[in-house]
Amino acid sequence: MSELWTEEVFLKAVGGRITGPAIGSIGGISIDSRTLDAGDAFFAIQGPRLDGHDYVEAALAGGAGVAVIGEDHADRFEGASASLVIVPDVLDALRKLGQAARERSTAQIIAITGSVGKTGTKEALRLALSQSGRTHASSASYNNHWGVPLTLARMPADTEYGVFELGMNAPGEIAALVKQVRPHIAVITTVEPVHLEFFGSVEKIADAKAEIIEGIEPGGVLLLNADNAQFSRLADKAGQAGVRIVTFGEKEGTDAHLDRVALHAECSCVSATILGTEVTYKFGAPGRHLVGNSLAVLAVVKLAGADLALAALALAGIEAPKGRGARVRLPAEGGDITVIDESYNANPASMRAALALLSQSEPGFRGRRIAVLGDMRELGPQADDLHRDLAGAVEDANVDILFASGPHMKALYEAVPDLRRGQHAGDSTGLIAAILDEIRPGDVVMIKGSLGSRMGPVVEALRDHFAPVEAAS
Ligand SMILES: Nc1ncnc2c1ncn2[C@@H]1O[C@H](COP(=O)(O)OP(=O)(O)OP(=O)(O)O)[C@@H](O)[C@H]1O
Ligand SMILES: [Mg+2]
Repeated sequence: MSELWTEEVFLKAVGGRITGPAIGSIGGISIDSRTLDAGDAFFAIQGPRLDGHDYVEAALAGGAGVAVIGEDHADRFEGASASLVIVPDVLDALRKLGQAARERSTAQIIAITGSVGKTGTKEALRLALSQSGRTHASSASYNNHWGVPLTLARMPADTEYGVFELGMNAPGEIAALVKQVRPHIAVITTVEPVHLEFFGSVEKIADAKAEIIEGIEPGGVLLLNADNAQFSRLADKAGQAGVRIVTFGEKEGTDAHLDRVALHAECSCVSATILGTEVTYKFGAPGRHLVGNSLAVLAVVKLAGADLALAALALAGIEAPKGRGARVRLPAEGGDITVIDESYNANPASMRAALALLSQSEPGFRGRRIAVLGDMRELGPQADDLHRDLAGAVEDANVDILFASGPHMKALYEAVPDLRRGQHAGDSTGLIAAILDEIRPGDVVMIKGSLGSRMGPVVEALRDHFAPVEAAS
């Protein structure tokens, strides 16, 4: 176990009172007893559904060196033989430890927000920067009020590059998170109508993303997507705050500029000029939207003083994650069936990106492009319109057959020409029989919807029906 925190520094940062034996050195920070490693410090965080205090015993039995618990739960652990730190507020204690991690760090710190593409950009940066030095990045999508302080608290003292994902559902959240992270380089991937229900307009979403400017370190940089409709709004705010802007995109004159791109079914080949340096690279996952994100990645690499050539080379190794564009090839007599699994989530921006991905795919002999789309949630009163608006993208993508589920998707289903319609059902499971009946060898099937629309079971049903031979990249 390598040491993340000494007992002394840990206790000083977290505060509170300690009971039980000495802790010794701390190897990691955990908030989940199931994934804890021996020697971790366990923080009993109160979540919306679960209370970490119910898992303190499991965490200690699993080898946690210490548990940090709330004062109001202290009675429950009276007389315990393990090391406990009792604090007024456990989340606040985690934030304090995160703050200590940030204060001791000499790393280049990067923060990423945006309506879509945060995790993909973060993972690409993890890979790109780790070619040049010790890199620490958020796990999964740990981008909220507990995910960000947890990621900070987990940052080793000798980290050279720290990459943080910042997310939000409401105004004020990014401001709070960025003040903890204090990035030298901040990225706003893009601003789109996501969670529109909570914000009312895309401009208000842009303003909430712009809160990231408030936490950028003096002399720091903000990367902005010049192709995004909200670019000027964001650039103005950065200008008012005196923050330097670096742009990326396809527009003439961007600092990280896309010169040429060849979009393939399973990757993209890109030529770009990154702050004056020409680079040619392969990006290992397909889609024009990811190419845009990759420009931001390489601009960050250059701004952080890391090796651009090694970073560009590493991007060939990127793979689309499960549920976010990963491809599964299913064997069928007469030609494999390709499933593009986008079941993890959906909003108008990622829906368009996924339809573009489907259009780039190459169906086999007599194969067709089939889209299976479930409702995009949290879009508020404009939901039906935003669904209907995708009809053009369905047309552009040369979708041969559209299957749609959910009440909002009905609006899209009715907006596409008759001959493209497969079936509409109230929920995703209602489509499965018709899809299995329709599919034939050579087809490419793209499946996407909000997590709550449960499109994953459609992917599973196809897998079960056709038993996969290999997971294609
Ligand atoms: N620039 C982009 N434009 C449109 N779609 C994108 C863009 N970047 C990524 N996507 C798509 O959006 C989906 C979500 O990507 P990713 O997980 O990286 O986003 P995120 O911002 O981390 O989302 P979350 O808020 O769920 O954490 C994926 O299907 C991805 O392909
Ligand atoms: Mg994410």
